[in-house]
Amino acid sequence: MIVALDVPGEREISDLVEKLSGVVRCFKIGLEVFTSLGPRAVDIVAESGSRVFLDLKFHDIPNTVFRAVRAAARLRISLLTVHACGGAAMLRAAKEALLEEATDAKLLAVTVLTSVDRRVAREEMGLEGDLEEIALRWATMAQACGVDGVVASTSEAARIKKELGDDFLVVTPGIRPRGEDMHDQKRVATPRDAIRAGSDMLVVGRPVTRATNPRAVALSIIQEIRGALDRDTNHGRVNHITEDNTAAKTHA
Ligand code: C5P
Repeated sequence: MIVALDVPGEREISDLVEKLSGVVRCFKIGLEVFTSLGPRAVDIVAESGSRVFLDLKFHDIPNTVFRAVRAAARLRISLLTVHACGGAAMLRAAKEALLEEATDAKLLAVTVLTSVDRRVAREEMGLEGDLEEIALRWATMAQACGVDGVVASTSEAARIKKELGDDFLVVTPGIRPRGEDMHDQKRVATPRDAIRAGSDMLVVGRPVTRATNPRAVALSIIQEIRGALDRDTNHGRVNHITEDNTAAKTHA
């Protein structure tokens, strides 16, 4: 589980990271936090011993993205995002920049945002066809460009895993434990359903960050993830849960 630190300032970040210490080992730094605090936000999380998912969703001409990814790769990050719809040349440039910096950070391409539904995609964005088809097409392009995985909703995760293989990461936001508010998200899923669809990492924001007891909510989500993984283990899909709460899977 990755917790999205969509909070206003340094104090709130440190507070959440501390409250979740020992439970959550990867935090997502997004546009709000990075725009206000810059690399300092990455340092706060990294210094706590947790991993950083820098979710800046770059989308620009290849040269600009190359330079931005190279700058990001010099920070202590484990995951970084670009928009798949920036096209193949942009995705290749992003991967090249990571290779040039010789970092272990993984590059993820964002497919269709989980706040976009079929109507918005068609009427407002001019995207024809099924969202699953679009996400799969973009994920296929991203994989061909050397990208390590995608950010996609649970509805697309199973198909992407099936078509592109188990090593291609699928990270899923829009996670809502049963009964939770959807906020601005449209394509949401429970932790259990996301794991069963094959997602490798779940991104959870407001259900944890706005809870009166974030640690308790995080623990109950992890419990739900473990339950879903145990079920998969019984079906031979998962070997064990690694230290950082990701599933180590067989390639059956
Ligand atoms: O609060 P909530 O759980 O909805 O947060 C989801 C997080 O995942 C946000 O930080 C959002 O920017 C991010 N995200 C998303 N959908 C995507 C990619 C990223 O919701 N497709």
